Amino acid sequence: MLVSGTGTILQALIDACADAGFGAEVVAVGADRAGTGGVARAAAAGIPAFVRRVQDSPDRFAWDKALTADCAAFNPDLIIAAGFLKLVGTEFLGKFGGRVINTHPALLPSFPGIHSVAEALAHGVKVTGCSVILVDSGIDSGPIVAQAAVPVLDDDDEESLHERIKVAERSLVVTTVGRMVREGWSVRGRKVRIGS
Ligand code: GRF
Repeated sequence: MLVSGTGTILQALIDACADAGFGAEVVAVGADRAGTGGVARAAAAGIPAFVRRVQDSPDRFAWDKALTADCAAFNPDLIIAAGFLKLVGTEFLGKFGGRVINTHPALLPSFPGIHSVAEALAHGVKVTGCSVILVDSGIDSGPIVAQAAVPVLDDDDEESLHERIKVAERSLVVTTVGRMVREGWSVRGRKVRIGS
């Protein structure tokens, strides 16, 4: 699992994995910066963690290659980016493409990018939400695996709206990852189907 921030989505998955019937295990946590809550949560749960900072590599390609090797060492079936604020590159997608998912706090294709909550609020939408997508080489452009809608309230600010989205996001990620690992998935064009 790849994280950049506090890791509450990671925590929800760690908690879900405690039930053997969930069918998954978080084998490692990677971060692109030191001192994140996500890495601390991994440590508290006894899960191996690594930090791979862009500034420690000569360039972005070398970083992408190093991140790919970091992840490959754990032999993951699925890679989950949850609040991971870096775009992975060609080496990473060459190795793991089709089994990398990202969670995004908006109903894609509306509001891609890192300011999605503020942009949804500024646009005045009445419903927003979260999306779990398969990662491709674009910015939040991959096929949609699952979505959940969240109302925007009149007095919301970015923080209150993001918190409400994250409640839905944690449950969407847990449900979606559980189904993907237990039932498998297929992709036809832009359409993703979980199960047969
Ligand atoms: C989520 O809303 C994710 O979609 C976003 O950052 C948030 C991560 O939250 N881009 P957390 O670190 O799991 O608490």
